[in-house]
Amino acid sequence: MIQLGKAHSPCDDTDIFYTFDRTPSDNNQHCIIFGKSGSGKTTLMKRMICGFVENGIGCIVIDSKQDYKQLTGEHFQHIRIGGEEGFMPCHEINLDTIISFAECLDTGFTPSQKQMLRSRCSQLNHEHFNSVEGFIDACLDNLKSVKHGEIRDVLENIKADPISHGKRLEWKDLLQNGKVTIFDVDYDQFITDATLKPIVNSMLMSFLNYKISVPDDNNCVLMIDEARNYDIGTGSAISKILTQLRSKHVACFLASQFMSYENGAKVPNVISQCDTKIIFNTTDSKFINNLLQLNQENKKAVNDELASLHTGEALICNYEGTTIASARDYLSHIIRVSLSNFSADDYPELFGTTL
Ligand SMILES: Nc1ncnc2c1ncn2[C@@H]1O[C@H](COP(=O)(O)OP(=O)(O)OP(=O)(O)O)[C@@H](O)[C@H]1O
Ligand SMILES: [Mg+2]
Repeated sequence: MIQLGKAHSPCDDTDIFYTFDRTPSDNNQHCIIFGKSGSGKTTLMKRMICGFVENGIGCIVIDSKQDYKQLTGEHFQHIRIGGEEGFMPCHEINLDTIISFAECLDTGFTPSQKQMLRSRCSQLNHEHFNSVEGFIDACLDNLKSVKHGEIRDVLENIKADPISHGKRLEWKDLLQNGKVTIFDVDYDQFITDATLKPIVNSMLMSFLNYKISVPDDNNCVLMIDEARNYDIGTGSAISKILTQLRSKHVACFLASQFMSYENGAKVPNVISQCDTKIIFNTTDSKFINNLLQLNQENKKAVNDELASLHTGEALICNYEGTTIASARDYLSHIIRVSLSNFSADDYPELFGTTL
């Protein structure tokens, strides 16, 4: 159990906890954290991460804003994506990885080259390859009889670049109980909004495949801050993780400032999997109406309540009903909470005491 803060209403001053139940149907499992910039999402995530460590739960964090840098020490491991060393974790080695690497190197493949790659190389079983180099060699072999050389040049270019020599992600080591692995995304010439999506998608796909392949039933948490930066639609790794890893005791926390406009139609799938919603002050009423399935009658009251929230205050909701009759009915299922602030000093056993 992790203490999140104190309730204002409807149960004044009661401690509010996040509990990680082991039953797959547990309605606390996946969680969406939504709110405008500076409302307190990252602060809450940091607090939860420390709570997970204290509870011996393994945690994977994706940080595209260097917000989790202060979490250091024996419980925390940082893996950099991009940056000066150009470090690129080598994840699921398959055609999609190769295609995303080509995009990172600005060459990319034309649509017809992609089609050619898929028709010639999709039968290559990625499980047989331990390195990007080996996989590319096998592709080149399959493309021997192809007339146009450009497709081979692109593949050779990827093979020669440090981008393809990253370390393979060993999820078994990264997912240890009570340990947190933080992927720090360092935007550079390779890592841009466009290339980060396929890289993280592929990384998460390998996480998904790893969790599915092992009988291991340890609780673990995946925390994705700034979730709008990644693919979340049907078919994406995030969407598959949400649907397929419930029974594997994986809880996914998605935090975001916006969703409705950029991701439009992609959102419903994510919403339907996140039974717990923690909503800070927001002006994105379009998304909120969708997220909470508000009707004409309760829209205004809920949005007014949201607009009145101060920094660090949120509405927490895990209402399971299908129809909500009135605003009063709705609000009685939502708890207004004052969330605790985060300070490393609150966790002397994790970070050591500071003088
Ligand atoms: N529970 C809290 N109690 C008191 N102050 C808080 C609380 N949560 C956040 N704050 C203050 O608000 C600041 C911004 O919080 P935070 O970085 O968590 O916002 P955010 O929602 O993640 O914003 P962004 O969308 O820009 O990343 C913090 O540095 C802290 O000073
Ligand atoms: Mg933040």
